Amino acid sequence: MSDLDWVTLRRAAAEAATRSYSPYSGFPVGAAGLLRDGTVLLGTNVENASYVAGICAETALVGVLVAGGYGRGDLRAVAVTNPGGADLSPCGSCRQLLHEMGGGTLLVNERPMDEWLPGAFGPDDLT
Ligand code: THU
Repeated sequence: MSDLDWVTLRRAAAEAATRSYSPYSGFPVGAAGLLRDGTVLLGTNVENASYVAGICAETALVGVLVAGGYGRGDLRAVAVTNPGGADLSPCGSCRQLLHEMGGGTLLVNERPMDEWLPGAFGPDDLT
C-alpha cells in the first residue's frame, strides 16, 4: 500500500486486533503502521497475569518497527482500532512512543501527533 488509504489501514488494524491477547480486560486493540516505503506493520495488545506487564498495541507496533530495521521518520500513518475497525484513542504512553518515531506530523487515525500530544517532550529536548 503506497497511497494513504485509511480504509485499508483500519482494516489491517482491525485484523491485528482480532489476534489480541487480552483475556483480562476483554478489550482487544490493533495498530497498523504504514511506512514510507509502503510496508504495513502490525501490533496488538498483549496482556499478562501480572497486569502491569501487559503492552499496548501501539507499543507492540513500535517494537516491530524497530526490530524490522526501521526507525525515526519511517512511519507515515498509524491506525488504532478495535476488531470492528472503530477508531480508538491512543493512551498517553503510546502517544509518547509514536511521537518519538514519527514526530509531530505523523498521522494517527487521520490526526497529526501534534494534536494528540501538544507540546510533546522529544529527543530535541535532550540536547
Ligand atoms: N490499550 C492499547 O492497546 N492501546 C491504547 O492506546 C489504549 C489501551 C490496551 C491496553 C489493555 O490491554 C487494554 O487496551 C485495556 O486498557
